[in-house]
Amino acid sequence: MPQPTGPAGFFRLDHDLVCDGVPLAAIAARAGTPVYVYSAALLRERYRAIDDAFTDYPHALHYALKANSTLAIARLLRDLGSAVDANSVWEIEVARRAGFEPSQIVFTGVGKTPAELECAVALGVKAINVESAGELERLEALAQKLGQTVRFAIRINPDIDAKSHPHISTGLRVNKFGVPLDDAHALFATLKERPLLSLVAIHVHVGSQVTSLDPLRRAAAMAADVSAELLRRGFPLRYVDLGGGLGVSYDGGAVPSASEYVGALVGEVRRTSLPIVLEPGRAIAAPAGVLLARVIDVKPRDASSDFAIIDAGMTELLRPALYDAYHRIEPVAGDAAGDRQYEIVGPVCESSDVVGRDRTLPALAPGDVVAIRDAGAYGSAMASNYNRRPLPAEVLVDGGEWRVIRRRQTVDDQLSLES
Ligand code: LLP
Repeated sequence: MPQPTGPAGFFRLDHDLVCDGVPLAAIAARAGTPVYVYSAALLRERYRAIDDAFTDYPHALHYALKANSTLAIARLLRDLGSAVDANSVWEIEVARRAGFEPSQIVFTGVGKTPAELECAVALGVKAINVESAGELERLEALAQKLGQTVRFAIRINPDIDAKSHPHISTGLRVNKFGVPLDDAHALFATLKERPLLSLVAIHVHVGSQVTSLDPLRRAAAMAADVSAELLRRGFPLRYVDLGGGLGVSYDGGAVPSASEYVGALVGEVRRTSLPIVLEPGRAIAAPAGVLLARVIDVKPRDASSDFAIIDAGMTELLRPALYDAYHRIEPVAGDAAGDRQYEIVGPVCESSDVVGRDRTLPALAPGDVVAIRDAGAYGSAMASNYNRRPLPAEVLVDGGEWRVIRRRQTVDDQLSLES
């Protein structure tokens, strides 16, 4: 495995922003923009921080592919010992092509189609995380049809407020996810008569970009309580699945460390003696990626600020337009600090196509390259072809070298689907 040169990730070396020591300006010049650039060293560091925090407590990290499932990144995490959480049959297929065994895949998702369920059952994934009584019935029918036992977890909706953005909070009763605790108990009562259904775990996931430990700890406590009771009643549970959700610091504010997070979860689950499964996505991938974009135009906005129009927008990074999400933006060359006010906007024909509001930066000119930070998770994975814009290229820096891990899409790629 190539060794990183110097510190991992993105930092300034003689004014210039580098990734694992490689100047981002050089990558932008050769690979073109917009382009995602990932630090292999930082991906490894972020994965290991969570993994190591468990010390000797039994656990498995099922990286949430939805955060970023580019093949090279999935493979890099597999090489570290990661397993995966897949949210569609297509993510399962990518996981298989990245080399994950079915026993390393948990299948989650609020709307798994019959075809998706059948694929997962036939493959024999580690568990299907069931989200409703209806889904459990469909699973049972499949088990009968295929003549095999199915391992499943029940996703409980704990009615806990993750205090994240409403679009990415999932743990309240009003959210579409999981089964309320009372209904879950009613389901457990039916399982003795359903021999093809093997309950292996309780699953909870209260939301994403969760920046306080309290909701995560309370969900873990609930999952541990329910698991302890089921163990007492003779259900041979194998682990507790606590989902993902740990937030990252997009703006420099405090977030729980990997060891605080894991410590809180282990503190709740230890009494069950069950191993812990986690499904982290953002906490591993977000800080390990940037989106590089080039300034196309600068034009006056109001008395005190200008628009800087860049060649990446909501098509490449949807988070600011969708959640009003904040991502640091800085020029890759020269000083990061300045005194000019900019509204950083994309090229898409929507007024919501704003990447950064009211930013104070050095003077920008057409041709300058900026880095949009912490874009490694839910960045390229959420990109679209709106305005026929091609999916951006992706680059991985590893051991002082970089390579394109996904080439830029072409119009021919897009039109190859059409007749
Ligand atoms: N497990 C389940 C069942 C999930 O639904 C999710 C995320 C995860 C694990 C991973 O969560 P993480 O560790 O990454 O927080 N597009 C949004 C985030 C949506 C998250 C959806 N589910 C964003 O850009 O902020």
